[in-house]
Amino acid sequence: MTGRTIYLETFGCQMNELDSELVAGQLARLGYAFTGNAADADVVLYNTCSVREQAEQKVWSRLGELTHRKNRDPSVVVGVLGCMAERDGVDLIRRMPVVDLMCGPGELDKLPALLDNAVRTKESLAEQSPARRARPAEFVALQGNTSRRSATLAAAEDSLELLDLSRAVSPVDPASGAASRSAYVRITRGCNKFCTYCVVPFTRGAEIHRPPDHIIDECKKLADAGVIEITLLGQTVNHYRFEHGSSISLGGIEQPQKGRTYKGSHQRDAFAGESTTTFADLLARIHDEVPAVQRLRFVTSYPRDFGDDVLEVIRDHPRICRYLHVPAQTGSNRLLKKMNRGYTVEEYNDFIDRARGYLDQPELGRPLMLSGDIIVGFPTETDEDYAATVALLRRSRYKNCFIFKYSPRPGTVAYDRIPDDVPDEVKRRRNNDLLAVQSEISDQIAREQVGREVEVFVEGPSKQQLKREGMSHGDIRRAGGAITLTVNGNSPTLEAPAPPSRGASVPGPASPQVATLDAEPVQLSGRTDTDLIVFFNAPAEQRDALAGQLLKLRITGADRLSLHGQLLETQRKKLQTPSA
Ligand code: SAH
Ligand code: SF4
Ligand code: F3S
Repeated sequence: MTGRTIYLETFGCQMNELDSELVAGQLARLGYAFTGNAADADVVLYNTCSVREQAEQKVWSRLGELTHRKNRDPSVVVGVLGCMAERDGVDLIRRMPVVDLMCGPGELDKLPALLDNAVRTKESLAEQSPARRARPAEFVALQGNTSRRSATLAAAEDSLELLDLSRAVSPVDPASGAASRSAYVRITRGCNKFCTYCVVPFTRGAEIHRPPDHIIDECKKLADAGVIEITLLGQTVNHYRFEHGSSISLGGIEQPQKGRTYKGSHQRDAFAGESTTTFADLLARIHDEVPAVQRLRFVTSYPRDFGDDVLEVIRDHPRICRYLHVPAQTGSNRLLKKMNRGYTVEEYNDFIDRARGYLDQPELGRPLMLSGDIIVGFPTETDEDYAATVALLRRSRYKNCFIFKYSPRPGTVAYDRIPDDVPDEVKRRRNNDLLAVQSEISDQIAREQVGREVEVFVEGPSKQQLKREGMSHGDIRRAGGAITLTVNGNSPTLEAPAPPSRGASVPGPASPQVATLDAEPVQLSGRTDTDLIVFFNAPAEQRDALAGQLLKLRITGADRLSLHGQLLETQRKKLQTPSA
């Protein structure tokens, strides 16, 4: 046992959240303990995001704060992991000498050795010598541009697969609740799209698909440990494709496979034979082979190359969620071209119509919900381009949409070739105006849900409830990381209504063993299979026990963007039976 404690904070997307979980599992097995308080930790690790400048600034300010501590206590080890480490390279250590080690997202399997090395070096050098500082490369694992060497080499040398395979899964501990009953599973790493504004292809490397058997085994292991909700992850998740004839096996382990070029067809993949596992095949296999998974969803979908075969599989497999996150980025064809997105607004709209045609069946209690991402203020964006984006937003009717101001990223094509010429004031105005349009749409969609019966996955006490219980803002943020799904680094846009006030609650005819819903209720939040957040009251004594369960609710109200629900009578009865 090392006996050392680690504070690990995660920024950015779900991919990073999963990486943090895998890294934490590995380090815990080596004897490190984890703490939620950076000030107590011997090792402080930040798993970082580089997608916008703002994401990096948060990390710079955390590192700045740590400098004071390190001056007092030079033994603390500070590490920067993830996309920012990969993008900034060793320059980051030069600019911020508080950093001891760096590890890119493609090298995380090397982190335990790197950390061990850094910790031992600290121990052997009572005082940090300046000479050590001059050799930072000793504690650095970055991919550089090696991942794009050659298709076969990169895939065959993919030791990172071992990190995903090493996933430590333990049976669900009821006390830890929802977090352990909902899990991410990676199916694809990296990205080949090279949208002109985006750093991800540089930080995460080339697109690589994991062998389907590894994915299914991981889902089975998770299900055996009590997981009932799985979200498959990939930057362009629908591009998943594994050709068995050309797969490589090393040391008895089938290796991930480099992504292929897409032909751009929206139709069924005519060339996919018996020996190919397409995304549609993978979804159907997980659904059928891992029946304990009650909810299967995936992010992020790319609006191109989303075949009818995938839509049919979703329609015909009841435990696959009818929820698609399909970023459009802009409603202007001129800008889509400049962004290198590879589709037109008309093609995007066709896809949305096709998806609704297959999957939107509100009359059967199975509506389709969509969400999106938009960038405002991409270079050269005119009022006309912006108006086209507003039109796309209105037509798409997303349940929520993440709206970002364009942030020029060094190393990308847009940064080098297209001057960032939209003034920040204009970006801000378009951002706010678009948020207002989206709020109106989200509000309408919320109202349409009133009266519907839904099943929610209980995530735990709502933020309002935690506040009411006196939890600090920082603690709520940390707890939120564990219990709510964040999308692209954003918290859900829905705001919680006020929880029931203690004074207003009427004590029910309680007997000591029977929970009544009227006694001191607590406000919990849950998520529908279509990713809508619903707030509802539950008995205080069930505050923690319900986390991670599926419960049936009726939507009773929509207040601004929030949905409120009530437990169905049958569900209340079940909860009131102590043996249930
Ligand atoms: N692979 C996903 C998105 C990953 S990045 C996709 O293609 O849909 C998440 C979101 O961040 C993107 O959808 C985009 O809207 C936003 N984004 C990426 N780079 C950005 C930049 N330079 N400035 C502003 N927003 C950006
Ligand atoms: Fe970035 Fe485009 Fe790849 Fe998404 S598809 S990660 S926006 S390059
Ligand atoms: Fe950020 Fe890297 Fe994810 S740049 S959005 S953490 S892939």
